[in-house]
Amino acid sequence: MKTLPDDFIFGGATAAYQCEGATHEGGKGPVAWDAFLEKQGRFLAEPASDFYHKYPIDLELCEKFGVNGIRLSIAWSRIFPEGTGEVNKEGVRYYHEVLSEAKKRNVKVFVTLHHFDTPKALFDEGDFLNRQTIDAFVEYAKFCFEEFKEVEYWSTFNEIYPIATNQYLNGTFPPGITYDLKKVMTCLHNMLYAHARAVNVFKDGGYKGQIGVVHSLETKYPASMSDEDIHAAFLDDALSIRMLLDGTFKGRYSKETLSALKEISEENGFEIHFPEADFVEMEKAKDRNDYLGINHYQSHFVKAYHGESRIHHNGTGDKGTSAYAVKGIGERIYKEGLPRTDWDWLIYPKGLYDLLIRIQTDYPNYKAIYITENGMGYKDEFVDGKIYDEPRIDYVKQYMEALADAIADGVNVKGYFLWSLMDVFSWSNGYNKRYGLFYVDFDTQKRYPKQSAYWYQGLARTKEIRD
Ligand code: NOJ
Repeated sequence: MKTLPDDFIFGGATAAYQCEGATHEGGKGPVAWDAFLEKQGRFLAEPASDFYHKYPIDLELCEKFGVNGIRLSIAWSRIFPEGTGEVNKEGVRYYHEVLSEAKKRNVKVFVTLHHFDTPKALFDEGDFLNRQTIDAFVEYAKFCFEEFKEVEYWSTFNEIYPIATNQYLNGTFPPGITYDLKKVMTCLHNMLYAHARAVNVFKDGGYKGQIGVVHSLETKYPASMSDEDIHAAFLDDALSIRMLLDGTFKGRYSKETLSALKEISEENGFEIHFPEADFVEMEKAKDRNDYLGINHYQSHFVKAYHGESRIHHNGTGDKGTSAYAVKGIGERIYKEGLPRTDWDWLIYPKGLYDLLIRIQTDYPNYKAIYITENGMGYKDEFVDGKIYDEPRIDYVKQYMEALADAIADGVNVKGYFLWSLMDVFSWSNGYNKRYGLFYVDFDTQKRYPKQSAYWYQGLARTKEIRD
């Protein structure tokens, strides 16, 4: 039986827009998602899990179930409703209250500054494609460092790769643009640069606490050992992993990364240049990250593809990633014979182990790693007040084992945050896809521990990964 270290954090993850609700309450300003969802007319992030009012209950549950960490995000537009300018005092007071409640419950808090929710005023001007958003973000970050001195762990961004690709490649996030790889690369670079600037402000300002970034890192394997498929996997990996880790831990993109970006851009008929001055800032920040947060759910097998970009999604998110072919990169294929979730996400814990070993080898200045998200979307059924979610337990157990193996092999992983703490709003599935340890009845907003919550409680107590 495998075990995890004594001081390991067993956390639960959330994000403001997905759990708070109260989208028009407390002086909060709008975000692009509000209108995007209204237009789709399928569901709204309102009242979501009503964390805005129910946070004391959720934090009490954390304490009761041995969940000693919570990942949450500050909604930028609760602090600056217009993105810049006037501060909304009610928003500031709200987060102080949440932080103080968490302290009372002995729950460590990891605070993300941006989780998919740029204030609308800035978003409409181009979001992170517009360099003024970078300045605004750094101002907002600095305000938070000054104001929320009680925060021990900061993270600048959540998942810049999904932001860039969902906004500008597959169009599932506002503004819903498709197949614009130049925008994808520009967005990635600008956000890596914005991260570096915020880290430098934090370290130069001598603030207490730690700072890092949360990247979504899904391992890419070639679909076969043919040279073509190996190359396609390399290209996909370069844009989705290597660019991010190079930018964060090397302060510039390595030769291999740049050659891949060049190839992708040439195939798509554009040129890409990054301002040299940005790398000065990024190099200054590269050894100042106190930790790397990794969101990891699945891996992908990639095969060569020479056609036009073609991303199939059927509007519900079900099987949304199974046909994903990008011009100049490759195709993420549906590999037969491997287990998948109800949403077709590949269950492949080896991908996490391989990823962690690679980071240890290629980016030895990483200091510490937290798995900031991992978990399984499932249509939980509520039967007589109970939720039997064995498939989720089985999924988490396998990934925990992979983690324990990586730790045994020397990778410094210090904690794990299950996505999600309680059921929350899902960007493309609304309330149909549940991830929580705690079931939320969205009509009454009552919480019920799932079977996985009891299992997690046992794990947090014994540190032993059992069935
Ligand atoms: C990643 C994101 O950070 C989170 O917002 C999302 O809901 C989960 N993954 C599940 O897809």
